[in-house]
Amino acid sequence: MPTIEQLITRERDRQTHSINLIASENYVSDYVLRMLGTVFTNKYAEGYPGKRWYGGCEFTDQVEQHAIDLAKELFHAEHANVQPHSGTQANLAAYLALIKPGDKVLAFRLEHGGHLSHGAPFNASGKYYKFVHYGVRKDDGLIDEQEYVRLLKENPDVKLVVTGASSYPRAIPFARMAAIAREHGAMFMADIAHISGLVAAGEHESPVPVSDVVTMSTHKTIRGPRGGMILCTAKHAGKIDRAVFPGCQGGPLVHVVAAKAAMLEEAVAPGFKTYIKQVIANAKAMAKAFTEVNAKRYRVLTGGTDNHMVMVDVTGTGKNGLEIEKLLGEQNLYVNKNFIPFDPRPNTETSGIRVGSPMITTLGAVEADMARVVQLMDKAVSGENVSKQVQAMMEELTSRKRAG
Ligand SMILES: Cc1ncc(COP(=O)(O)O)c(C=O)c1O
Repeated sequence: MPTIEQLITRERDRQTHSINLIASENYVSDYVLRMLGTVFTNKYAEGYPGKRWYGGCEFTDQVEQHAIDLAKELFHAEHANVQPHSGTQANLAAYLALIKPGDKVLAFRLEHGGHLSHGAPFNASGKYYKFVHYGVRKDDGLIDEQEYVRLLKENPDVKLVVTGASSYPRAIPFARMAAIAREHGAMFMADIAHISGLVAAGEHESPVPVSDVVTMSTHKTIRGPRGGMILCTAKHAGKIDRAVFPGCQGGPLVHVVAAKAAMLEEAVAPGFKTYIKQVIANAKAMAKAFTEVNAKRYRVLTGGTDNHMVMVDVTGTGKNGLEIEKLLGEQNLYVNKNFIPFDPRPNTETSGIRVGSPMITTLGAVEADMARVVQLMDKAVSGENVSKQVQAMMEELTSRKRAG
């Protein structure tokens, strides 16, 4: 058995030698990474700044308050809770705060790109609350707003509407959906786990002004440590804080809260907007490249993207999503298999892949690089060995980043 240190070295090598296009991952900065390895991991701090259940929290309080202040500033939110251990925890806390067990919730269907914490039967959300789901239209793959309205009409007892997705490549019309939810007497929650960086940079409509609660993961496009965060109106602040602690969690991971503060410092700095603009431009370039390389092999769902991901139906390759994921992975190109809406295959196989631009953009890639990556992927799918070219491209990107 290799030692943990050896495994860390191997993982670092893996990350250095592969092109990672997993839409939900990112590379954190050295600053964020450093925060995760600090003595704050030794500290218990149940409670909130100024109201703790443990002594010795004077520096913890300052760290957490700094993160809260930055989160409020960045997202223009009335209240922020930076303690959720993950996006899923943030969602469970939001439900605990806003609704009661057995209450009805309308959310985006898992099979069409939603998340398991939006009412999957095997998740706590699906066990404790009654979920009904809207999806996308078959013809264009966009959110079926007619179905959304119909379900609200048919279910006048819906207490909460949840929007947000794991694999939806288009902009979500938060204001419009919130207005409809309110007309039907429901509260409105947006889960921006994937697009939090885009919202923070002003490159996606913000749900904050129209939502009761907004939840997110902090390790995706916003480029922070693994964790979650909740924003809400002042009206819900007390309930949200009590739902996170003591409702769902014990002590916060103070070292992670410190890393979230570092992430937020980076996200309020001007360079972050430039990064996110490039993330979107690169995703669009990838969508175009898939179509140009071979539109029959790679059917780009919805015809393109508005955000950081491209959803591709790979049926035309003669392989399923799992096979493509494996084939690419063997050549150090990482994507993930993904359900496509109305997928005839099981979720262990799938007909699609999800391809994202956040990581390669962190390395400094621009549009022309994305076309090269798609060509490499296509060669790999055709059975060519491209691992040397992948490594060469990674070395080029890394040295360009060092030089820049
Ligand atoms: C829409 C959505 N919500 C919540 C989550 C949960 O995130 P976490 O892995 O931080 O629990 C994800 C993760 O992919 C997601 O896509």
